[in-house]
Amino acid sequence: MDNKLPSLINAKKRSIHETEIQRDLFYVDEKIANLGSGKTCYLRTYGCQANERDSETIAGILKRMGFTMIDDEKTADMIILNTCAIRKNAEDKVFGEIGYLKQYKDQRPELIIALCGCMAQEEAVIDLIIDKYPQIDLVFGTHNIYRLPQLLHQVMITQERVIEVFSKEGEVIEGIPTDRFIKHKAWVNIIYGCNKFCTYCIVPYTRGKERSRLLSDIIKEVSELKENGYKEITLLGQNVNAYGKDLGYQDGFSRLLEAVAQTNIERIRFTTSHPWDFTDETIDIMARYDNIMPFLHLPVQSGNNEILKLMGRRYTIERYKEIYDRLKKVIPNCSFSTDIIVGFPNETEEQFNDTLELYDYCQFDNAYTFIYSPREGTPAAQMEDNVSYQDKQRRLSILNEKVDHYAKIKNEAYLNKTVKVLVDGLSKKNKNVFSGYTQTNKLVNFIADEAKIGTIIDVLITDAKTWSLNGKRI
Ligand code: 5AD
Ligand code: SF4
Repeated sequence: MDNKLPSLINAKKRSIHETEIQRDLFYVDEKIANLGSGKTCYLRTYGCQANERDSETIAGILKRMGFTMIDDEKTADMIILNTCAIRKNAEDKVFGEIGYLKQYKDQRPELIIALCGCMAQEEAVIDLIIDKYPQIDLVFGTHNIYRLPQLLHQVMITQERVIEVFSKEGEVIEGIPTDRFIKHKAWVNIIYGCNKFCTYCIVPYTRGKERSRLLSDIIKEVSELKENGYKEITLLGQNVNAYGKDLGYQDGFSRLLEAVAQTNIERIRFTTSHPWDFTDETIDIMARYDNIMPFLHLPVQSGNNEILKLMGRRYTIERYKEIYDRLKKVIPNCSFSTDIIVGFPNETEEQFNDTLELYDYCQFDNAYTFIYSPREGTPAAQMEDNVSYQDKQRRLSILNEKVDHYAKIKNEAYLNKTVKVLVDGLSKKNKNVFSGYTQTNKLVNFIADEAKIGTIIDVLITDAKTWSLNGKRI
């Protein structure tokens, strides 16, 4: 079998050659165009929005090949796990699921089980799969989703296990079909990969180098989404603020954001930002256009400069506060969220207290908080660590108390106010309860006689909880 296996060493390489835009790599030969006809597929997605978006591509390809996507893993002819590698617990969940799926494979040997996404890019994971998990028939990576028709064909005709993972820097591939799961909100990729190499992070290895889509391709996609009735788009990248650097654009993200705003699509969001590349101009553009939502997710990771340095983050807490101060000055109603890691190797109690202090300064609307998880192949995983797991857990719960405290206070500020909500759905239990998000990204559950999914309506806030608001349509 001609398997192509991942290599973290190759995945680390970065050359200066310009991003290549490939428009004809995806194809489906006539002989395999109906390979999925009469067959069903269950696709399960773990991890971040990049994976969600990749799953829409995978579903688009499968539908093109005749497969029907279903929600039931028990009866599916094919099961695909689109995996996340960010922390060990994300991987443990996937291995648990692979173990669980073995019973189906034993019952129905013709079942195809595939694994893709970020875990597929790790050599340790692939070694384990080769050794211990014969139930996996196909592995493909984050760079070769476009090869899915050919890989599936190979698995089906040879009935042998196929592993194809590229650890190259990657290119931008346009023209792959997409099956969007939601019909009024869409993810739009703007930049793939990451060059930051934060010392704890596996993403630069699993997703390749930073490479941007052409501005014209992005604007075309957004305009088409708008024409098709989409109300909200989220510009996606591991680090959106680096958009266009590889194409020679100056402050490409601000330029792109402005161009997207000028399409007049109703709501624009973007994620994830990195303080390193973040410019003041981005805040000014956010302020200038009503359709750019007043919400910023800006991961800080730690409130201590020495830890930030060890993490390879390349900004200081002073700079982070400067961005926050400017944001609040220019867009006072802007909501603000972050990511924080506690228990980085050798983090002292004082250094952790600096994180708490920063939290009090920024009073975040929300924060995703994590215990540091060593990732094989990253520099931080080589560091000795004198902090016990118990201490890490204690720090996490102290921090989480603060997170809850400010989340509640921030939500209480909405009481008795009227907000614009994009209606996402209807409660399963009560046909008069709907849900959606405010411009500032607050989840609202509200009562209404009727509310159409995909419309933007006024809701009066009547109750504030820690993680959501309650209200009624007015
Ligand atoms: N351990 C714990 N958290 C991590 N993150 C990234 N890598 C790790 C790791 N090794 C967190 C960061 C990042 C978020 C997506 O996940 O906070 O912003
Ligand atoms: Fe997980 Fe990161 Fe991969 Fe997203 S890019 S799936 S968060 S490892």
